[in-house]
Amino acid sequence: MAVKLKGRDLLSVADLTQEEFWELLEFAKHLKLETLAGKRHEYLKGKTLAMIFQKPSTRTRVAFEVGMYQLGGYPLYLSSNDMQLRRGETIADTARVLSRFVDGIMARVFAHQDVVDLAKYSDVPVINGLSDEEHPTQILADFLTIWEKFGTLKGLKLAYVGDGNNVAHSLLLAAGLLGVNMSVGTPVGYEPKAWYVEKAMELARRHGTSIEVTNDPIKAVTGADVVYTDVWASMGQESEHDARVKLFQPYQVNPELMKHAAPHAVFMHCLPAHRGEEVVDEVADSLQSVIFDQAENRLHAHKAILALLMGD
Ligand code: CP
Ligand code: NVA
Repeated sequence: MAVKLKGRDLLSVADLTQEEFWELLEFAKHLKLETLAGKRHEYLKGKTLAMIFQKPSTRTRVAFEVGMYQLGGYPLYLSSNDMQLRRGETIADTARVLSRFVDGIMARVFAHQDVVDLAKYSDVPVINGLSDEEHPTQILADFLTIWEKFGTLKGLKLAYVGDGNNVAHSLLLAAGLLGVNMSVGTPVGYEPKAWYVEKAMELARRHGTSIEVTNDPIKAVTGADVVYTDVWASMGQESEHDARVKLFQPYQVNPELMKHAAPHAVFMHCLPAHRGEEVVDEVADSLQSVIFDQAENRLHAHKAILALLMGD
């Protein structure tokens, strides 16, 4: 069991070194192969995970819940609407109290500062299950999927088209860390935040790889091994949806755009997808699409995170 990750928080991809990211990927692959072969793992026997959700979830909730069960532990689903948080109890007090009961906390929040505060006041590992800034657990599953499909990560080109959001931020950090070239294509004004782009560029320099942000979707996708998109309006941005749909249309992943990628390119989406908006059925359901392998890998990746952060 990795000593370095034990007891740590996972709030951002930037919390991980390249070595630690690979350790998680390799452990996820190991757990996946053994689980599919019928072996059971009890790395978290008797341990509990509190899962706080301020936003809806299908994959993240189920992957963490099933993952805890498969590792011999117990997950508690806590909707923030049903907690005293809704009535004004502070994040700090919530963290202090939960730390007395459970061995780890996973939280899906609006403000990234909420996971930072949970980690600050908690005595147990805190995992970011999506914030407005990042989605690190998703990205571990994504790079596990890319690694499985290509047998390597180094030197590949990942194109992300659409909104420069939380998923784009975490993808940028991981691409820089792992030596993957990345090109982000967004409408003007919807680029990823400068901090993530600059950090990814700084990391990429060590590998001699490139990180590019453009407003040209075709340029972003040209020659890409992986074409990735996400919803145009994230959770909490529903009121902007209609205006965005018009503006983002040139960034839709359709067969025409896919033609600019490498012939062997795969299509990825963190899901849920708004079919007919950021992606059309002809791509999402094509042979190039790996979206359901990607979703399955949430389970294996999350088990690795749980076991390495919370295991003995
Ligand atoms: N990709 C993802 O995080 O999905 P959920 O919102 O269903 O958890
Ligand atoms: N960017 C999306 C990801 C959902 C998994 C959102 O934040 O809603």
